Amino acid sequence: MKDILNLISPGKPFLPDSLNAMQLGQTNAMRHLWLTASVSLFAGRETRFRMLEVGSWMGASVLTWAAAIDRFIAGDGEILCVDTWSPYLASDDINVDGAYHAMNQAASTELAYSVFRHNASCVPKKVRVDHLRGRSKDVLSMLREGGFDIVYVDGSHYYADVVADLAEARRLVADGGLLCGDDLEQQLTEVDEKYLRDNIDRDAVVDPKNRKPYHPGVTLAVAEAMGPVSSYTGFWVMRRKGDGFEPVDLAGTSPFLPGHFSEEYRKTVLDWARESGFFQKKA
Ligand SMILES: C[S@@+](CC[C@H](N)C(=O)[O-])C[C@H]1O[C@@H](n2cnc3c(N)ncnc32)[C@H](O)[C@@H]1O
Repeated sequence: MKDILNLISPGKPFLPDSLNAMQLGQTNAMRHLWLTASVSLFAGRETRFRMLEVGSWMGASVLTWAAAIDRFIAGDGEILCVDTWSPYLASDDINVDGAYHAMNQAASTELAYSVFRHNASCVPKKVRVDHLRGRSKDVLSMLREGGFDIVYVDGSHYYADVVADLAEARRLVADGGLLCGDDLEQQLTEVDEKYLRDNIDRDAVVDPKNRKPYHPGVTLAVAEAMGPVSSYTGFWVMRRKGDGFEPVDLAGTSPFLPGHFSEEYRKTVLDWARESGFFQKKA
């Protein structure tokens, strides 16, 4: 498989939409701006920059983190990826979403793992990518407390898994570092809590009152572990300060979209960034 991927995409990322490699739902494309914006908060840092990503799939977000480290961090960078690269979705959830069906197939055939390793080998030279293959609840407990400048939680959306991931993630992020995650489309105060609790075992639901989709496991687990968080189109982020966490303002930062975005996505995301005015420097 390694040879085949090198033949199809020599030295370049391989991110086919048919396998949902880019993980680009409606708001997910914006997420890459928030990832690069988060790294820009450490701009000029000269000592080694360490990141942990829980849930890497085919490596699209790793490529973005690596490009941001390459651009903003003066010293070397290191990204540790933790993933099972095996099927993890409940059958009820697979059946409601065609993209999930393709993901489940790619995970069960080792294709996802092979593509991840190919893409992880395409990062800039000053960034080292390591990975640990296993369930996060088994792997994260082995890692050193406070060992990471950014911990990004983008693994399972199921409540019990997110609770476990966040308990470890809080421990693993360094003082002054960022704890962040994906798939928080709505916070607990925005949704019908009874409906959320009745559907807590689902991957995604639509809130009966505001009609917006969200991941109930992520919403409840984040609320319980972190309280209200800074959130940007589904991406959430907080900075560790001593034993607590404080909000993070990404307005006025300098995000960018790395080279593995197709022209089509690039246009959508950059148009949004321009029109929203979100990243313009404050006067
Ligand atoms: C949404 S995808 C990650 C997307 C990736 N961060 C990106 O943006 O390109 C979720 C990933 O979490 C992994 N995952 C799910 N449950 C997990 C668990 N309990 N432990 C480790 N990884 C898990 C899946 O295998 C999948 O690759």
